[in-house]
Amino acid sequence: MSEKTLNIMVATDIHYLSKSINDGGEAFANMIAKGDGKVMKYIEEIVDTFCAEVKKRKPDVLLLLGDLTFNGERISHLELAKKLEKIVEAGIPVYLIPGNHDINYENCFGFKGDERYRVESVDANDFREIYSFCGYKNYDYYDEISGSYISKIADDLYLLMLDTNSYSSNYFKEESFIWLENVLKEISKNNANILAVSHQNLLEQNFMFTEGFKIKNAERIEEIYEKYNVKLNLSGHMHIQHIKNNIIPEIVTSSLAVSPNHFASIVYDGESFVYSTECLNVESIENFAAISRDEFKIMGSRQLSKLFKTAPYENEDEADIEKMSKVFLKMNECYFSGEIFDPYGFEEGMKIWEEQHESFTSLYIKSILDSVFTDQNRFILKL
Ligand SMILES: [Fe+2]
Ligand SMILES: [Fe+2]
Repeated sequence: MSEKTLNIMVATDIHYLSKSINDGGEAFANMIAKGDGKVMKYIEEIVDTFCAEVKKRKPDVLLLLGDLTFNGERISHLELAKKLEKIVEAGIPVYLIPGNHDINYENCFGFKGDERYRVESVDANDFREIYSFCGYKNYDYYDEISGSYISKIADDLYLLMLDTNSYSSNYFKEESFIWLENVLKEISKNNANILAVSHQNLLEQNFMFTEGFKIKNAERIEEIYEKYNVKLNLSGHMHIQHIKNNIIPEIVTSSLAVSPNHFASIVYDGESFVYSTECLNVESIENFAAISRDEFKIMGSRQLSKLFKTAPYENEDEADIEKMSKVFLKMNECYFSGEIFDPYGFEEGMKIWEEQHESFTSLYIKSILDSVFTDQNRFILKL
């Protein structure tokens, strides 16, 4: 049993974009129109509301699981770091790792009028310097090869921030396994628990989305975790809210920038981890939740019309297509938010999907079917 209960706040895939390189003009609107449902128009308000919420709640620890910036813009990193500095100054330790969008990202642009222009990004060393007060100063163990670090955050709990993006691309460097195993062996000696964090996923969360999502050598990491008291892995990257219960369970928190704009809380008391999500209420924007939901729905409809064009659904009449669309959009919304899908009123559409020849979309529906009938927003892990 821990001496006291530890409150941990979690957010991921913030994708902050500085206003100083974005005038919200035509180029930005065009990019958003092809986007993935992030509410980029109000990203400043989202981040400011979130930071205020953190300061109000005063958790013991704040964890950010990577993809801090839109596409790795140096100025976005600098401005976000300033906001995080205020949190640290308020006495709340912040621990973070980079995501795949944060370092030397190829499509690193600013937006002015109808043009986009290249802006400066950061390398892994710049990243560490900019966020030096977010884990990179108060670690107990640090691996120079991967950029990963381990910090003791309670008398019986260590935090492992596994970095698979600073000096590698979605894999844990071979040379770092010795460091990982040695340190875990040492700290697990006293039966301390270990909470692991990664940006990409440790487990296969969806059989259709493993390439580019699951860490390339995840099995080896998992093996070591099993051996040395790692109890739980937290990740992001997919922008969906999803839990996979396994020997070491993994919770994927959805993007703070995507409807329903989740952040999560974890309560640790030495005997369990209790995880739950909440939706960020951005009061400075009128009807924010509805605006955010619309942004997501527009993205879903756009994807669906593209998918309908690529698959042969000519046999279906318009009424059937309409029913199929409704099912897809609702299920997709539930898959991202982690909420339970209520099939009432969608039965006919579901049946039509079942009767279809196999296509990307019908397979996608199959792949999310189990998930959408389970609540992905709450999880209790007894230790
Ligand atoms: Fe992301
Ligand atoms: Fe990512």
